[in-house]
Amino acid sequence: MPDERFNEIKNIVDTHNRWRREECINMIASENMMSPIATEFYTSDFESRYNEHDIHTHYQGVKFSMQIENKCNEIFGKRFNTKFVDSRPIAGSVANLCVYKAFLNIGDKFISPGLTFGGHVSSTRYGIAGCLGLKDIPMFFDAEKMRCDVEKTIDLIKRENPKLIMLGRSMFLFPEPIRELRESIGSEIKIIYDAAHVFGLIYGHQFQQPLEEGADIITSSTHKTFPGPQGGIIIGKPDLDENDWRKIQNAIFPGVLSNHHIHALPALAVTALEMDEFGDEYASQVVRNAQHFGKVMDELGFKPLCQQYGYTKSHQVIVDVKDLGGGKPVAEKMEEANIIINKIALPTDSDADATKNPSGVRIGLQELTRVGMKEKEIEQVAEFYRRVLLDKANPETVKKDVIEFKKDFIKPIYHF
Ligand SMILES: Cc1ncc(COP(=O)(O)O)c(C=O)c1O
Repeated sequence: MPDERFNEIKNIVDTHNRWRREECINMIASENMMSPIATEFYTSDFESRYNEHDIHTHYQGVKFSMQIENKCNEIFGKRFNTKFVDSRPIAGSVANLCVYKAFLNIGDKFISPGLTFGGHVSSTRYGIAGCLGLKDIPMFFDAEKMRCDVEKTIDLIKRENPKLIMLGRSMFLFPEPIRELRESIGSEIKIIYDAAHVFGLIYGHQFQQPLEEGADIITSSTHKTFPGPQGGIIIGKPDLDENDWRKIQNAIFPGVLSNHHIHALPALAVTALEMDEFGDEYASQVVRNAQHFGKVMDELGFKPLCQQYGYTKSHQVIVDVKDLGGGKPVAEKMEEANIIINKIALPTDSDADATKNPSGVRIGLQELTRVGMKEKEIEQVAEFYRRVLLDKANPETVKKDVIEFKKDFIKPIYHF
C-alpha cells in the first residue's frame, strides 16, 4: 500500500488541476490548452517507446512511430507548402539549439533580438547561444514602436557581417521586418524566425507569413498560441538547400536529441488538423480580443504600450506598471485574485530592474479565447484588473468573483 506521500502527490495534482483549469483566469502568453482528442492521443503506448533515427531507424518496433512522425510532418508540410518539416525537437528552445548547432561554430556572430527588447534567453549569451560559445549581437529596437529599428539594424548587419539573423521574440506585439531585411542583405545570410509565441497566429493566417516574406527557417514551440502539446518544430522554406536541411537533421539527431517525445506527435498532428479547420477563426478572435483588451485597459486608466499603433497585432498586450510598483508586485497581486500573468522587462529598464522588478507585465489573450471568451468577457476581465490594481480592492473578494465568472469558461472550443 502506498504511504501518505501518495495522497500528497494526488492532492497536489488534483488541487492544481482544479485551481488553474477551473478557478483561474490564465493569461500567461506562452500557455494554452490542448483539445480533448489531442489530450487523449497524448497518453498512448508511444509514451514508453524509443525511436532514435537519422535516415535509418536504430531500434525495432518503430513502424507506427515512424508513420505518426511522417504523418505529422506531412500535415505541417501541407500547411507551409514545404517538404522540410521536423517535429522531433522537444521544445522551442531545443529547436533553436538544433538550428544554431547546424549553422554556427564557436565564436561565430549572429544578430539576435536582445533580452530587454523581448528576445528569448535561448538566443542570448545567457542561454543556449552562450552554451555553444556563440556571440549574440542585439539588433536595434525602436522602443516607441516596439519593433526592430530596421535602418540601424541593416547598418549593423553590414558592419558585423553575421552568419545568421534570428528574428522573433517573447515580447512580441508587431511583425518583424523580414522583407526589408531580406531585400537589403541579399540571400547569403540566413534568416531564422523564432515563431514560438505567434505560431498559432501564423498557422491561422492572422500574423506575418515568415517563409513567404523571406525567412529561410521557422523554429517554434507547439504549445503557445498554437494549442498543441509541449514541444518544438523546425520548418524550412520550400526551396531550402537540401544540404542545409541535412545539417539541421544531423543537429537534431545525433547532435542534440537521443529519443524524441513520440507520444506528443499524434497530439500535435491532430491539433494541426483542428487548426486547419478552426485555426483562422480562433486566431482572428485572439487578435481581436488582445486589441480590445488593450483599448479597455487604456480607457480604465492603465498604460498599455503602443496605443497609437492599436496596442498589438498579436495575442499579447504589454502594460507599463512602473507607477503601480513594478511588474513583480503587480503580477503577485493579480495572482492573489486568481489572475495569472507574468512580469516582463521593458526596453527602458536597466539590467538590474530587468531581472528584479521590471516595469512591465505581459498579458496573453490566447487561452481565454480558446475557452470561448470574446470582447464582452474581455471587458469583464479588464474590470477585475481595475478592482485589484486601481481600486485596491481586497484580492480575496475579487477572487470569489473570478471563480464564479470562470465557471462558464472551462473547456476549450475550436476543436473536433
Ligand atoms: C521567442 C521564444 N523562443 C523560444 C522559446 C522557448 O520555447 P520552449 O519553452 O518551448 O522551449 C520561448 C519561450 O517562451 C520564446 O518566447
